[in-house]
Amino acid sequence: MKIALGFDHGGFEYKSALIEYLDKNGFEYQDFGTFSNQSVDYPDYGVKVAKAVASGEFDRGILICGTGIGMSIVANKVKGVRCALANEYFSAKATREHNDTNVLAMGARVIGLSTMTEIVNVWLKTDYIGSYHQNRLDKIAEIEENFGK
Ligand code: RB5
Repeated sequence: MKIALGFDHGGFEYKSALIEYLDKNGFEYQDFGTFSNQSVDYPDYGVKVAKAVASGEFDRGILICGTGIGMSIVANKVKGVRCALANEYFSAKATREHNDTNVLAMGARVIGLSTMTEIVNVWLKTDYIGSYHQNRLDKIAEIEENFGK
């Protein structure tokens, strides 16, 4: 599984712990920045990751900003992306099972480092359960088409 990573200055401090987790668990990834804690605009990084996933070059994306909210708004503007803002375990698991989300957004100012790695772990390792949920995802895709995302 290839994972695209993106951070703004609010999420930068969590990058090394995330990369340590991904290395330890054998995941392939690319870091799309930011590369320091200097203030940046989260849309610039969120869109890079969203495009990398939407193009099919990457299987999943992980975004961290201060709250996760800005990054999730940005990612969900890109056609083909289903981004979940998940700052706790239950939502991270459920959003893979029900929504087949391909991008995860989290807030470094909301959760601690160990919660972040627990969320990432369950989100990366939980499969979509399909079945009647597919009908709902098809409706989301139809809305995406109709509103010209
Ligand atoms: C940056 O200060 C902050 O607004 C950003 O990290 C994020 O929380 C936006 O949603």
